[in-house]
Amino acid sequence: MAETNGAPAATAAPGGVRTVACVGAGVIGGGWVAHFLARGYDVRAWDPAPDAERRLRDLVASAWPALTRLGLAEGASMDRLTVTGTLAEAVAEADFVQESAPERIDLKISLLAEIDEAAPGHVVVGSSTSGYSMSEMQVKAARPERLVVGHPFNPPYLVPLVEVVGGESTERWAVEWASEFYRAAGKQVITMDRELPGFIGNRIQEAAWREALHMVAEGEATVEQIDRSMTAGMGLRWAFFGPCLTFHLAGGEGGMAHMLDHFGPSLKAPWTRLEAPELTAGLRDAMVAGTDEVVAGRSTAELIEQRDRRMIAVMRALAEVEAEEAAEARARGTEGNEDTEGGGA
Ligand SMILES: NC(=O)c1ccc[n+]([C@@H]2O[C@H](COP(=O)([O-])OP(=O)(O)OC[C@H]3O[C@@H](n4cnc5c(N)ncnc54)[C@H](O)[C@@H]3O)[C@@H](O)[C@H]2O)c1
Repeated sequence: MAETNGAPAATAAPGGVRTVACVGAGVIGGGWVAHFLARGYDVRAWDPAPDAERRLRDLVASAWPALTRLGLAEGASMDRLTVTGTLAEAVAEADFVQESAPERIDLKISLLAEIDEAAPGHVVVGSSTSGYSMSEMQVKAARPERLVVGHPFNPPYLVPLVEVVGGESTERWAVEWASEFYRAAGKQVITMDRELPGFIGNRIQEAAWREALHMVAEGEATVEQIDRSMTAGMGLRWAFFGPCLTFHLAGGEGGMAHMLDHFGPSLKAPWTRLEAPELTAGLRDAMVAGTDEVVAGRSTAELIEQRDRRMIAVMRALAEVEAEEAAEARARGTEGNEDTEGGGA
């Protein structure tokens, strides 16, 4: 278990949290609510929109079948959701608070200060922000040391990743506590030791997104071609190996080192609009050493076998879902989705 020393004595153990407050219950906040309910927590939610409770309960109800298929925690129930009339009622007795209000810096600053005032001082508060740093959001809070970013991916009840990072005024214990808590709540956590706009995942995603927009703007590729290049191509591999391990295998037995030495010069070819970094010896060594760590002693043959099994598993899973959908569509007497060529195993 990670070090969470320094937490106030009243702070629950990360694995002992019972009640989570969700402030803001739209696409992401509602997704968090569904996730926490499915993991067996009591959830108290607050959202100022007049129809928020109906939208939230609809979202949870529509996510529940998938969550049930995935496996609910013991005692998990949609009935353990309380929608409160005020922010203070939501957070007053929570062991953890997840903020998911609209992405506006003025709103985040004042809302986090309000949450900070209303929530017990020993409780950690996570923000779902997609891009603001906690340093810029925590400036009006009286107890900024317990405020962290806990950045999810949509939908938070299915995508495992949460990126956790503190701001300049956040104390280390809060970052460690939040990381442990999210893990205990069934998430895969990246704990970052420095602030980075967009965190890690969004920067990777944004690079691909910008290139896609450039290609469409220039008439170089269609939306359909771009999406297919991902779903029938690298997307299948990225679900389990990521871009670095994928390129390690592109280097054959020579791995990442050979890959960089061989293809390094082409980094300067204008393949994308993003300017490539200089492939210095330091960058090369950092990539090779980082890849060695991820490879953790597996041979190229072993990695290839693992890759192929996982790729087949993903392709079979997609083919199964597509076959189910086609059967459902036939049963309804409508046309099925004929675009299934990408998923056949
Ligand atoms: N949509 C995504 O894919 C995604 C992914 C990761 C993180 N995020 C982040 O999650 C946060 C929420 O985004 P979203 O996509 O759920 O937006 P959304 O518009 O779907 O939901 C925002 C909710 O906040 C409520 N709200 C408005 N003012 C509020 C206030 N003062 N206090 C509390 N709630 C308030 C709104 O009524 C609405 O229900 C943002 O910070 C966003 O950057 C979004």
